[in-house]
Amino acid sequence: MSEHFTHKPVLLEECIQGLNIRPEGIYLDGTLGRAGHSREIARRLTTGRLICVDRDQAALDAAQERLADWMDRVTLIHSNFDRVGEIVQRLGLSGVDGMLFDLGVSSPQLDDGSRGFSYMADAPLDMRMDRDEGLTAADVVNTWSQEELRRILYQYGEERCAPQIAAAIVRRREDKPIETTLELVEVIKSAMPAKALREKQHPAKRSFQAIRIAVNDELASVERMLQHAVPKLNPGGRLAVITFHSLEDRIVKNSLSEFAKGCICPPDFPVCVCGRKPQVRLVNRKPTLPSEQELQENPRARSAKLRVAEKL
Ligand SMILES: C[S@@+](CC[C@H](N)C(=O)[O-])C[C@H]1O[C@@H](n2cnc3c(N)ncnc32)[C@H](O)[C@@H]1O
Repeated sequence: MSEHFTHKPVLLEECIQGLNIRPEGIYLDGTLGRAGHSREIARRLTTGRLICVDRDQAALDAAQERLADWMDRVTLIHSNFDRVGEIVQRLGLSGVDGMLFDLGVSSPQLDDGSRGFSYMADAPLDMRMDRDEGLTAADVVNTWSQEELRRILYQYGEERCAPQIAAAIVRRREDKPIETTLELVEVIKSAMPAKALREKQHPAKRSFQAIRIAVNDELASVERMLQHAVPKLNPGGRLAVITFHSLEDRIVKNSLSEFAKGCICPPDFPVCVCGRKPQVRLVNRKPTLPSEQELQENPRARSAKLRVAEKL
């Protein structure tokens, strides 16, 4: 069977339910990837439209085939999702009825060894989701200060050995630049104590995640996306966001709680003077997690969390 029929998008049923799709509605999938969620949205539309965004041109190229049956109702856009406000406006729309963001990297990005996302395949240190952008993983590893490297490894990778790894990177690059993924893996491993090397997960996993987040400025993109997405939802429209690590989830949770907050006047004020009204209702207070069955079928769903909000 062709891979796009076997690909199981994360929290699929939960997303479709969360988006509350109407066949005549306008929807935006801000993270097209392998089009797994997009296919399921597109096939539920009759007169509706689906706008598919990805910052990786490879995802858009593959979508021509993956979404072939529904291209009459699909618009493909190569962009960072943090420009979602402009995207909706440029299409002449005042708003959309639902938006989905399934954050992080896609399986094709990880599986294509040449992209440099994987610590298992040797490739130039790239890790750019959008290959038109300037900053690569090689730039981060070879030019950022030891302190900056320590910070990103610690904050974005939650890597306990961040100080030792940052120091080892700087020592190695004094001899010659670190150019490939496996060279970097070797430097990371050389800085870790034997106990850390024996852990179940690959010793370079956390560092690679950290560098990828830095290269693609992932956390700031999510913050900007949320600020621009909520104002572009029609009343009753739904925003669904899937995150894969605690930093992203905290950003989504805090932003949506801010949007859901009403009056902020002190409790002893007899009447409201701030005039602040909630802009969304949180559909699920606690995030939705994958079922046991999904986890068995798709271990990559392990850390996924879905949050959904409805525009008031
Ligand atoms: C986890 S995958 C999405 C998988 C997709 N939902 C599916 O079922 O096939 C994430 C995708 O979002 C894209 N992406 C990540 N950050 C982005 C951003 N800031 N703007 C646009 N696309 C982004 C990546 O290039 C990747 O293709």
